[in-house]
Amino acid sequence: MAQQDEVFKKIVSHAKEYGFVFQSSEIYDGLSAVYDYGQNGVELKNNIKRYWWDAMTLLHDNIVGIDSAIFMHPTIWKASGHVDAFNDPLIDNKDSKKRYRADVLIEEAIAKIEEKIEKEVAKAKKRFGESFDEALFRETNPRVCEHKAKRDALHQRFSDAMNANDLNELRQIIIDEEIVCPISGTRNWTEVRQFNLMFSTEMGSTADGAMKVYLRPETAQGIFVNYLNVQKTGRMRLPFGIAQIGKAFRNEIVARQFIFRMREFEQMEMQFFVRPGEELKWFQTWKEWRLKWHKALGLGDEKYRYHDHEKLAHYANAATDIEFQMPFGFKEVEGIHSRTNFDLSQHEKYSGKNIKYFDPELKENYVPYVIETSIGVDRMFLSVLCSSYEEQQLEGGDTRVVLHLPAALAPVKCAVLPLVKKDGLPDKAREIVNDLKFDFATHYDEKDSIGKRYRRQDAIGTPYCITVDHQTLEDNTVTLRHRDTMEQTRVSVDDLHKLIHDSVSLNSLLRKLA
Ligand code: GAP
Repeated sequence: MAQQDEVFKKIVSHAKEYGFVFQSSEIYDGLSAVYDYGQNGVELKNNIKRYWWDAMTLLHDNIVGIDSAIFMHPTIWKASGHVDAFNDPLIDNKDSKKRYRADVLIEEAIAKIEEKIEKEVAKAKKRFGESFDEALFRETNPRVCEHKAKRDALHQRFSDAMNANDLNELRQIIIDEEIVCPISGTRNWTEVRQFNLMFSTEMGSTADGAMKVYLRPETAQGIFVNYLNVQKTGRMRLPFGIAQIGKAFRNEIVARQFIFRMREFEQMEMQFFVRPGEELKWFQTWKEWRLKWHKALGLGDEKYRYHDHEKLAHYANAATDIEFQMPFGFKEVEGIHSRTNFDLSQHEKYSGKNIKYFDPELKENYVPYVIETSIGVDRMFLSVLCSSYEEQQLEGGDTRVVLHLPAALAPVKCAVLPLVKKDGLPDKAREIVNDLKFDFATHYDEKDSIGKRYRRQDAIGTPYCITVDHQTLEDNTVTLRHRDTMEQTRVSVDDLHKLIHDSVSLNSLLRKLA
C-alpha cells in the first residue's frame, strides 16, 4: 500500500509538472478540492468528453444532447429531494478541530478489518506455497473467521444506522470501535450532524427580492425538467435518451485523493426514458454497454468491476457502479441507476404541470421510467492518467517516464522534431507541421537534444514523434518513432497522414462499440 501511495504521489506531481492539473489559486496557497486543468490536461479532458459525447449521440440515433443552465429554479431541488436529503453525516474532533465524514470513518474501520483478513491469506499463501487452498482457508481458518464475523457485524450495524438515519448510533459506533482522529490521535468527538452538500447563493439585486438559488449538485435535473421540450421539439418516441456534460458542485466534507473528490467537478450524464415495465431490461443493456465503452480504451479489462447496490435508494429499483482500480483501490467512476419515474413524478407534483408522455402506439399518457448513466469526467481523467503512467527502466541503466495514453485521448498526437536547428531542417519540419495540423494536434520542438525531446513527448503521452534529418531533404522520408515501443521506422512524408490517422482517430475507438 505504501508503494502504491508513493506511485500516486508521483502521478500527482507529474500531472502538475507537465501541465495537466494545477491546484486552483495556487499562488494564494490553493483552494481545497478545487483544481485547474493546464494546457495538456484540458486537451485530454476534452478528448474524454468527445469520446463520451460521440459514443452517446452519434452511435445512438435515439439520443440527443442538451446544455442546461447551472442555476435552476430552487423548487427543482426541493422536488428532487436534494434540499432535504442531500446530506453527509459529519463529526469533528475537538482536539485537532478537523472535520470528518462519520460514515467514512466507519467504512475505513471496516476496510482495516478486511486488510487483516488479506494479510492472513497472504501469509498462509507464502507458507503453504503450491498446495495452498485459498477458498478452504478463507472458510475455515479461525483467525480469518473471527475477523469476518467482526466485519459483518460492524457492517450490519453501520448499514442499519445509515438506513435509519440514526446519527447517535453512528457516533456510538465510532466510540465503540475506538476510532481515533488521524491527526490528534484522540477520541474526543463531537456529536454527529447532518451537513447539506449544496452550495447556495442569492439571485437578484435587492435584499428583499433576492432568491436563494443553488449551484447544481448534479446535471441530471436539467435533463428531467427539459425532457418534454426535447421530446416534443425533436419529435422523439420512447425509448429515447438525453445526454449532457456540465459542471456540478458539492461542498464535500472530506475532499481528498486529488481530483477524485472535488468541490467543483464535471459530469457526463444520460437519462434514457423508457416505458414503465421495460426499465430493468434497459438497465441491463446500459450496464453492459457502459462497461464496453470503458474497456474499448484498452486500459486493462481486469481494472474494472461492477459493484451492484444491495441497498437501494427509495426511488431506485436497480443500481450499480462501475469501479476502476485506482492506486488507492477499486473506486466508483460511474453509476448506472434505474430511477423509476421518481424524478419526473416529483417535478409534475411540485410544478403542477402535466409532464406525461403520450405514447402513440399504446394511445396512453404516462410518466416514463428512467435509466441514468452518470460518470465523472475528472474521475475518468484520473483513471486514464493513473493507468497510463509508467516509470520504465531502459537498457543501459537509463529510465523514462511515459504516459501510455489511449492514442485517441492523447493531448498531442504527433511532434515534429528537426534533428538540428540548421541546414534547412527546421523549415522542412515546419512544412510538415503545417500540413498535419489541420487533422491532428501537432507540436513543433527544436530545443535540446533529440533524446530529451523524445522524453518530453513520452511524458505527455504523444503517440508519435516525427524526426526530420538530412536524408529527409534528399528523399522526403522521416523517422516515425512509436511512443510505447520506441521503435523507429523510416517512412515517406506522404504516408504520414494515413499512418497516424489510423491509430489516433476517435473513429477507430468508436467503431469498437458498434
Ligand atoms: N445523477 C446521479 C449522480 O450524480 P453520483 O453517484 O452522486 O450520481 C455520479 O455521481 C458520478 O459523478 C460519480 O460516479 C463520480 O464519477 C462523479 N462524482 C460525484 N461526486 C464527485 C466529486 N465530489 N468529485 C468528482 N467526481 C464526483
